[in-house]
Amino acid sequence: MTARTSLRSVAESRGFDVGAAVDADLLRNDAGYWKLLRREFTTVTPENALKMGPLRPSPDTYDFGDADAVVNFGLEYDMTVRGHTLVWHNQTPEWFEEWAYTDDGIEGFLRDHIHTVAGRYRDKIDVWDVVNEAIADDGSMRETVWYDAMGEAYLDEAFGWADDVTDADLYYNDYGADGINEKSDAVYDLITGMLDRDVPIDGVGLQLHALHDEPDPGSVAENVYRFEDLGLDVQITEMDVAYPEGEVPEDHREQQAQYYRSIVEACLDTGCETLVTWGVRDGDSWVPGWFSGLTDDPLLFDGSTPKPAYHAIMDVLAEGSD
Ligand code: G3I
Repeated sequence: MTARTSLRSVAESRGFDVGAAVDADLLRNDAGYWKLLRREFTTVTPENALKMGPLRPSPDTYDFGDADAVVNFGLEYDMTVRGHTLVWHNQTPEWFEEWAYTDDGIEGFLRDHIHTVAGRYRDKIDVWDVVNEAIADDGSMRETVWYDAMGEAYLDEAFGWADDVTDADLYYNDYGADGINEKSDAVYDLITGMLDRDVPIDGVGLQLHALHDEPDPGSVAENVYRFEDLGLDVQITEMDVAYPEGEVPEDHREQQAQYYRSIVEACLDTGCETLVTWGVRDGDSWVPGWFSGLTDDPLLFDGSTPKPAYHAIMDVLAEGSD
């Protein structure tokens, strides 16, 4: 048995990627944060820095400061870098409000944005979430500024434009579509259509925010298999686990650990080789800021202390890695 020094070393020996969403300010100002990140994780995703709003302070300018900080950190420590996200309905630039745009204006803006951003990180980013959350919770196409201007073709164009300028794997990413359900059926139909139109898509990201319920691991595995049957890869891209007040299991950290374990087992069974948690430490998580009434410890670390969930993932990855 190899010396289990870190989650990263065990994951690497298993050929599995364990990642975390990264905040650029914490990376710059908190040594404990980046040391933990470097020691324990194989993959980084900028939590906000590569989104359109943060990148585009004005129509003709880009601010790559935060994005470069996270991407270069990943490269410096031989980590996989996931780009998140080129096209999304949230965190669009504030100046969009005043912009009297036309459909052609939107299309031109999006093309230039994707060519510029994905082109800049051509040799640095391994995987891009090209389009994020295009399906509404009822399974219909989400009404967004992109859909309104270009229809469903905005997805085809976005993947094509990214493919023009990067060798990264190109993913569609969404939430609430982790197991087999109405929304994941809609995602499946959307992607099947894109493949029929020869859109250059390589994979699907299942966010897996288990915040009010825990998607059944068996159903998640079934969902992964059906996308793999389309010739696509699948990654768990934004996992966190929290429980609603009044339904908090007594030993919720043990239950949380078992759930993380069951999802990693589903990954290992299905050939999904990447699981990213949406943050590094409980204290950095977006969850408490967005949801009152949920447990506030959805990740693998309490400060710098590894939690039962960390050890559960370590154990399941260590099994069979020797
Ligand atoms: O950077 C500004 C700061 O200058 C300003 O002072 C402050 C107060 O308004 O806001 C800061 O921006 C915030 C940003 O996080 C950085 O902290 C935004 O208001 C806030 O909305 C943004 O929240 C992010 C959220 O996406 C936006 O929808 C969360 O951190 C981030 O974890 C979350 O991530 C999303 C994924 O991208 C997609 N899937 C769901 C996931 C959770 O919502």
